Amino acid sequence: PVMPLDASKVEIQTTKTPSKPKSNDELVFGKTFTDHMLTVEWTQESGWGTPQIKPYGNLSLDPSSAVFHYGFELFEGLKAYRTPGDKVALFRADKNMERLNKSAARICLPTVDGEEVIKLMGKLIEQDKYLVPEGQGYALYLRPTMIGTTPALGVTAPDKALLFVIASPVGPYYKTGFKAVKLEATDYATRAWPGGCGDKKLGANYAPCVLPQRQAAERGYQQNLWLFGPEKHITEVGTMNAFFVFQDSKTGKKELVTAPLDGTILEGVTRDSILSLARERLDPNEWTISERYFSITEVAEKAACGELVEAFGAGTAAVVSPIKEIGWEGKDINVPLQPGKQSGALTENVAKWIANIQYGKEMHGNWSRPV
Ligand code: COI
Repeated sequence: PVMPLDASKVEIQTTKTPSKPKSNDELVFGKTFTDHMLTVEWTQESGWGTPQIKPYGNLSLDPSSAVFHYGFELFEGLKAYRTPGDKVALFRADKNMERLNKSAARICLPTVDGEEVIKLMGKLIEQDKYLVPEGQGYALYLRPTMIGTTPALGVTAPDKALLFVIASPVGPYYKTGFKAVKLEATDYATRAWPGGCGDKKLGANYAPCVLPQRQAAERGYQQNLWLFGPEKHITEVGTMNAFFVFQDSKTGKKELVTAPLDGTILEGVTRDSILSLARERLDPNEWTISERYFSITEVAEKAACGELVEAFGAGTAAVVSPIKEIGWEGKDINVPLQPGKQSGALTENVAKWIANIQYGKEMHGNWSRPV
């Protein structure tokens, strides 16, 4: 029989050498991990095996495994937060599970019942709860990953796979709160394209972006602002979705704009959260919220006539990352910041809205879910 993933079958083997929590100022994104990890094996023949929570440690894989040769790998990133009453809550994990399944389907890996994975992540977090850091900006970053493990070199759908989840206590991307970044508008390398898989969270989308990032860094820019096509459409920034704020100088009306989900844009959970909150909370008489194509040319023109008001990146890791400058055609486009601050006003508000929900200071539907 082909078994579905069943969280109630989990076997838990606890570590004999529990680690000491690091102090908050020692936490570097994704460098330390908690004491346990979750693994579940899948085969085409038998379906999902017994979920295992066991001490964090090496995997043992045949060197011919599909993941090492043809990139059968997908991942997710989500966070668990300390909320009032000594609880820990996951932020919008259902969205990550939805996306995990879309990524899996795209590279012929098995899909899962997301609810079961959420339950298993809950058990993993419970195991290592004392390692979930406390404080604004601190969280437990979870990294669900699935790989094809069929030990054979034929280019074909894997008939064996491994789902695993590791967890990393993390702090704010920038220790001193926000720090606005400089971007290089990049048209000599392309992150994603129509008919491709740039909207899926595959490892294969990330490795090729590191060289352009390094090249931009050599020129003094922290991240790439990824452009696409002859129109030079703005798609994403680094590993995040990109948001811009424009203000019409005649009417005073503002527009929050991000690229549409046309298959070339990662379906960011933070992106979706920002759009929902903006649509709920911003006065429609003052604001338009747009998912539309817009280009670096439009941004440069708007900047030149004072209509570029804010820009920021949005992702799970940094949540909201303000932008202060964009290098384009040998010049730097300046993005205004509030006097004495590292971001625009909406950027600051959006970051607060999301943090309040993540840390359980405010309820928003089922976005924050105790484990
Ligand atoms: C993000 O959360 O912004 C990411 O894309 C995660 C990154 C570490 C790959």
